[in-house]
Amino acid sequence: MSDPHTDNPAAESAVKTEPGKNVENGHARYEAIPGHPHIKPPGVPQAQTKILSAESIAEIQRKMVRYPVRKSAVLPALTVAYRQIGYLNDEIYEELAQITEIPKLHIAEAASFYTLFPKKPRGKYLIMVCDNISCALCGADSLIKYLEEKLQIRLGETTPDNLFTLQSAECLAGCSAAPMMQVNHAYYENLTRKKIDELIETWRREG
Ligand code: FES
Repeated sequence: MSDPHTDNPAAESAVKTEPGKNVENGHARYEAIPGHPHIKPPGVPQAQTKILSAESIAEIQRKMVRYPVRKSAVLPALTVAYRQIGYLNDEIYEELAQITEIPKLHIAEAASFYTLFPKKPRGKYLIMVCDNISCALCGADSLIKYLEEKLQIRLGETTPDNLFTLQSAECLAGCSAAPMMQVNHAYYENLTRKKIDELIETWRREG
């Protein structure tokens, strides 16, 4: 029977040998499955998580197979958690540490480096206005002020209906179409107040 956390037929045949367990520097280290060093064999307790779903755990374990050095899987693991929850925090680092057996401190340090991993819940639409040099020269600061007034929030805040979070961002590599902003995964370029009005109206309508 296939291990529900691996979803990997190759691992299924590989795990029929008796799993071993060693202790290294005080941490449990499981005998590697040939070709799949990060998958725990059957009989070894799987991580108990309250936040991350079984699907996320399985996806993280599938991704880990690609990385011979365990620590290298930290960003893919953080990405899976972020996609499920929408932000990262200490409890999520704890669960990721259990699943990956990467030290929690290492996971938290990596996450802290990336502003694109939010550390608290945010609105449905994350508005990131670039305020770097090209955008600043084309009026980014005035557009940020306009958005603050329009949404009745300050930079870093979320509207009470949890629809919008407003942030500034460093250069997003859209300088040729400045001023610009990224909203979730899309770019909006050559911004004007009128364009912003239309976008906000559309997103409010869609809810
Ligand atoms: S300065 Fe704004 S995208 Fe580069």
